[in-house]
Amino acid sequence: MADLDLLVIGEINPDLIVRGPDVCPAFGQEEKLVDEATLTIGSSSAILACGAARLGLRTAFLGVAGEDQFGRYMLDAMARRGVDVSSCIVDRGLRTGMSVILSQPHDRAILTYPGAIGALRPDQVDRSLLRRARHLHVGSYYLLDALRPGLPALYAEAHEAGMTTSLDTNWDPSGQWNGGLAEVLSHCDVFLPNEAEARAIARCETLPEALEMLASLVPVVAVKLGAEGGVAYTRNLAKGVAHSSALSGAKRDAPPSQGLFHALALPVDVVDTTGAGDSFDAGFLYGYLNGWPLDRALRLACACGSLSTRAPGGTTGQPTLEEALLAIRNE
Ligand SMILES: Nc1ncnc2c1ncn2[C@@H]1O[C@H](COP(=O)(O)OP(=O)(O)O)[C@@H](O)[C@H]1O
Ligand SMILES: [Mg+2]
Repeated sequence: MADLDLLVIGEINPDLIVRGPDVCPAFGQEEKLVDEATLTIGSSSAILACGAARLGLRTAFLGVAGEDQFGRYMLDAMARRGVDVSSCIVDRGLRTGMSVILSQPHDRAILTYPGAIGALRPDQVDRSLLRRARHLHVGSYYLLDALRPGLPALYAEAHEAGMTTSLDTNWDPSGQWNGGLAEVLSHCDVFLPNEAEARAIARCETLPEALEMLASLVPVVAVKLGAEGGVAYTRNLAKGVAHSSALSGAKRDAPPSQGLFHALALPVDVVDTTGAGDSFDAGFLYGYLNGWPLDRALRLACACGSLSTRAPGGTTGQPTLEEALLAIRNE
């Protein structure tokens, strides 16, 4: 019997967000003063896990941290937000990664020290978690260097254990957009890229072409479009949301919907878009795991993404389920 809704496997690193009108470093030992510096939960996957827990999904996280202050900070902060981190691995021989985000009003630059980010190996994944959770999500595919080759087998094991699966690759720093991804996608029930990632992975010029290509591999594709909201596409709904609803035993609250849907972002006063895509994922998976129709899952996802931009960092602005439902009711 599943005692967890969601198992997230991914990377662990804090973000140091430095904000101001001019955060461009000046070499030559120049000192500049900035408006604000915030140490906060980083890592796409960890931000997603916190967003899911905030919405009420019973969520566990698996990743590797070093035995150091950054690692302890991350594990404590995730636990405080209701994420079960008891299976995370603390490796004395590694140092926890860190991102420094230089954020000015219309742009940001990121410096990442990878540290332990890519260290998790397939044999370190506690297989009992696959029997305890209903759904497996993996984030930051292109950063998980040691795990990547074992992911198709891990997803296949998850399916055998009765789980549904999803993936958000995020950006590929190598620019290759490959790494055996097609094989992983063939084991995926939900794929959650943003538009640039979707086009790069599908090797298509336009979003409609990319959606068509990706939907030939994955039953449900939801693509994030920043301030434009998002789209969700399925060629065969019966294999997508219905599958998850059968697993959960949840009742659908509307007749099946098919095809392509677009949902708008909420008009919010944007403070910081860090992690908006991860909060979108959390909202989408909430709807998916509760057997919602695709269009409603997408609207919740967009609301969660937009509301997360209200505060600096990925997790501070993440909505409760009540807040997110209120936002989509008022649309
Ligand atoms: N400027 C914005 N205004 C309102 N909502 C936004 C804005 N940027 C992002 N969002 C919300 O967050 C979601 C995900 O953001 P996006 O930036 O597309 O993801 P990613 O971080 O993966 O690139 C969007 O679908 C949208 O709902
Ligand atoms: Mg993203």
